[in-house]
Amino acid sequence: MTNRNLENKNILLAVSGSIAAYKAVDVASQLIKQGANVNVAMTEAATKFITPFTFKTLTGNVPFLDMWDINTPSKERHIELAHSADLMIIAPATASTIASLAYGLADDSVSLCALSTEAPRLIAPAMDHQMWNNSATQTNINKLKARGDIIIGPDYGRLASGDFGLGRLSSTEEIVSETKARAGKMYGDLAGKHIVITAGGTREPMDPVRFLGNRSSGKMGYAVAEAARDRGSDVTLISSVSRPLIKGVNIINAETTAEMFQKVQEATKNADALIMAAAVSDFRFKDINKNKIKNKDKDMDVSLTPNPDIIASIKGDIIKIAFAAEINDMEKFALQKLKSKKVDFIIANDVSNPAIGFNSDNNKVVIFSNTGDQINLPLMPKIDVGHEILNSLKKRF
Ligand SMILES: Cc1cc2nc3c(=O)[nH]c(=O)nc-3n(C[C@H](O)[C@H](O)[C@H](O)COP(=O)(O)O)c2cc1C
Repeated sequence: MTNRNLENKNILLAVSGSIAAYKAVDVASQLIKQGANVNVAMTEAATKFITPFTFKTLTGNVPFLDMWDINTPSKERHIELAHSADLMIIAPATASTIASLAYGLADDSVSLCALSTEAPRLIAPAMDHQMWNNSATQTNINKLKARGDIIIGPDYGRLASGDFGLGRLSSTEEIVSETKARAGKMYGDLAGKHIVITAGGTREPMDPVRFLGNRSSGKMGYAVAEAARDRGSDVTLISSVSRPLIKGVNIINAETTAEMFQKVQEATKNADALIMAAAVSDFRFKDINKNKIKNKDKDMDVSLTPNPDIIASIKGDIIKIAFAAEINDMEKFALQKLKSKKVDFIIANDVSNPAIGFNSDNNKVVIFSNTGDQINLPLMPKIDVGHEILNSLKKRF
């Protein structure tokens, strides 16, 4: 399994005549960066907003504009594109194109391809808020949803008219993320598996404003979640931090270790694997002050009490992976943890190195398995570390 789940996938990107059509260039560019082969279909109105030449230069493929073009090299270009597409994205989708799709029209390049393809269709509407809220558009959208089309957005924000409202084209990140989520379900090697992942550092309250915490940013857990989503698994991410949402991942908030304990217990009831990337606090305050503790200008003693051991408490037919963030004797402590927690793998990293670990986009880890194997990975982006962890996990399924 490649780390890029859109690698070599044929994506048919259909562009209709919205002022947001220029953003489709970025969508095409990002899809190509993910390794996809992108073909573009454009309505006539779309060509008023953005030139087909831009897409030709970017994708290396001549956009499909006119079904009556005598010079087209193929017998039936729309059939060729519709049949070869693994996924079709319509972005931006105008009110008019949405209506065409809802009614099954096939009178322009976009609606013709859309009606001819069996590939899943992802539709990202963009229009003024009155057009979006119009019951005609809403009825059409509901029809498309009921037929299984995936509707992305639209987002709330400033519109071309200057008004604020619902109707903005979703961001490129969101459109690509949804595309990857869908591709994962179709082709992913972990499709059908449910993986529970924890992320972030827990916060143990001392009083209403103070807490005991740690430096975990949650980036590692989120990266594993994204990798698992890309590979098609159902992902529950239990997180103590606010980070950008990952399309297709069920994110549950848990601030304290006790909350995380409870959420993990519930989520793992029907899970195949648990990956604990969160840095949970081993202790919490024995007493939590109801009111803010006032400065008394003298020493203060506080009592801490141990928190429950989340991963050790999870029993049954589930593969368990824990992280060990160490600053010295990494291997010794990681191997001790592997035994004491009775987990299948320990992912050990040296958090004293500022180039890796907390808040970094990269990490350098060693994967220790309970069968005695050890994989020393080089420094790499956290998303790639996520894939390496999943490669090890997959061998146990
Ligand atoms: C400046 C301008 C901006 C437009 N922006 C949008 C838009 O964002 N969304 C939309 O649904 N229609 C928009 N329209 C109207 C569509 O371009 C028009 O309905 C057209 O027939 C759509 O054709 P198509 O769906 O075949 O591309 C706009 C029209 C103009 C002149």
